[in-house]
Amino acid sequence: MVKNIAIDGPAGAGKSTIARKLARKLGFRYLDSGAMYRAVTWQALKQEIKLDDERTLVSLAEGMEIVFLPPAEDGISPLLVGGQDITKEIRQPIIDQNVSLVAKVKGVREAMVRQQRKMASTGNIVIDGRDIGTRVLPEADLKLYITASLEERSKRRYQEQLFKNPLVNYQEIKNKIIRRDKIDCEREFSPLVKDQDAILIDTSNLPIEEVINKIMQLIKDGEHND
Ligand code: CDP
Repeated sequence: MVKNIAIDGPAGAGKSTIARKLARKLGFRYLDSGAMYRAVTWQALKQEIKLDDERTLVSLAEGMEIVFLPPAEDGISPLLVGGQDITKEIRQPIIDQNVSLVAKVKGVREAMVRQQRKMASTGNIVIDGRDIGTRVLPEADLKLYITASLEERSKRRYQEQLFKNPLVNYQEIKNKIIRRDKIDCEREFSPLVKDQDAILIDTSNLPIEEVINKIMQLIKDGEHND
């Protein structure tokens, strides 16, 4: 029986939409690990901590209580820090621009991974991020590496943001994705890589529903082999 699913991949590949839908279909919880790094970044910026001040960032991350509430009607779990709902705040462009700098700090990662493993310990969970199959849940029952072409990923982020801001610029969004992926892939601790056991799914030309069907089939096939 599949009890936990690890999903990794670069920005804009469709991980969170897929993970959320998959969790709903299976009756599992969904943990958005990226939201936790975003929450630390939000708190660091709020406290005007310099993002190269690793010691202060680590003690901030170690002392942070990040709480996810059960999903609201839109399927998104509100995220609270110190009792404050910052679900919207962590999606602001200023967080997109800075989150990778915070997430590359070893002690910040260790603090987040500890919390993530604790949340995953009861099973029946889908987690998405950058190091789930390689570090958070190396023993996951199913590991997926979800990606898409840079053009497609940039196009998706552009469409998403156009909704909030009609003045967004496609090339700027693309450049930001390139920069964030570069930091995530080249960092020293837990860089984004496809785990050797992970199954690669390229969503460039695959509608979400087909991706979900494909994953459900993988789960079924896995159960026959148990
Ligand atoms: O949704 P999107 O792909 O834009 O990113 P996210 O999943 O919200 O993650 C934001 C950032 O957090 C990533 O670019 C990574 O720098 C970091 N992250 C990480 O280092 N490890 C994870 N498990 C999840 C996110």
